[in-house]
Amino acid sequence: MNKLLVSLVLTLGVATSAHALEGNAEAGQGKVAVCGACHGADGNSPAPYFPKLAGQGEQYLLKQITDIKEGRRTVVEMTGMLDGLNEQDLADIAAYFASQSMTLGAADPALAERGEAIFRGGNLDTGLPSCTGCHSPTGKGNPPASYPRLAGQHATYTAKQLTDFREGNRTNDGDAAIMRTVASRLSNKDIEAVSAYIQGLR
Ligand code: HEC
Ligand code: HEC
Repeated sequence: MNKLLVSLVLTLGVATSAHALEGNAEAGQGKVAVCGACHGADGNSPAPYFPKLAGQGEQYLLKQITDIKEGRRTVVEMTGMLDGLNEQDLADIAAYFASQSMTLGAADPALAERGEAIFRGGNLDTGLPSCTGCHSPTGKGNPPASYPRLAGQHATYTAKQLTDFREGNRTNDGDAAIMRTVASRLSNKDIEAVSAYIQGLR
C-alpha cells in the first residue's frame, strides 16, 4: 500500500513537472532567428514545403519540436538546429509561434468539393472518420488535446504529412497510431483533394 502510494506520488510528480514549464512568448521571439529562414519570422512560411507555425496550438508545437529534437520525427532540414536549446527554450519558442496569427490560403476550386466531402463526412465504405471530430469543423484543431490546427496550412505540406503517415515515414502520432490509421484509408486523390480544401479553410 505504502509502496503503491509512493510510486503514485512519484509518477504524479514527474507528470506535473513536465507540464509545469510555462512558455514565454516574448522570450521565445528572441530565440527563433534561425527558424525564420524557412518558417518565416512570424511563423508564416512563404514556401509550400515549410509548414506555417503561426497560430498553431502551443502544446502541439512543443510536442513536435521535442519529437524532432529527440529523433522521434525526422526533419532532415532541421538536423542539429535544436541541439543547443533546453526545455525552457523549446517551451518559449512554442509559445511565441502559437501567439502569432496564421495567414489564410485559398483552395483549388477543382478539388474543393471532393476535399470538403472527405473533411466533413469521411467515407463510410472505407471506415474513414471525418476530420472534424478531432480537428474541429473550422479546422482550428483542439489545442488542449494537442490536435493540431489545419486551416490555412500549405496544401503541399499537408499532403506530404498525410502521405508520410500512410507510408510509415511519420510515426510520432502516438501508440494509438491515429493518423497512420486515418491516412491508410486515403487514396492519393483523396489526399490531394482534402489538402487543397484545408489550405482554403477558414
Ligand atoms: C532549413 C529549413 C528549416 C529551418 C531553418 C527550420 N525548420 Fe522547422 N521544418 C522544416 C521542414 C521542411 C519541416 C517539415 C518536414 C516534414 O515534411 O515533415 C519543418 C517542421 C517543423 C515543425 C513541425 C510543424 C507541424 O505542423 O507539425 C516545427 C514545430 C518546426 N519545424 C519548428 C522549427 C523551429 C522551432 C525552428 C528553429 C529552431 C525550425 N523549425 C527551423 C524546415 C526548417
Ligand atoms: C481521432 C482524432 C483524429 C482524426 C479523426 C483525424 N486526426 Fe489528424 N491528427 C490527429 C492528431 C492527434 C494529430 C497529431 C499527431 C502528432 O502528435 O504528431 C494529427 C495530425 C494531423 C496532421 C499533421 C499536422 C501537421 O501540422 O503536421 C494532418 C495533416 C492531419 N492530422 C490531417 C487529418 C485529416 C485530413 C483527417 C481526416 C481525413 C484527420 N487528420 C483526422 C488526430 C486526428
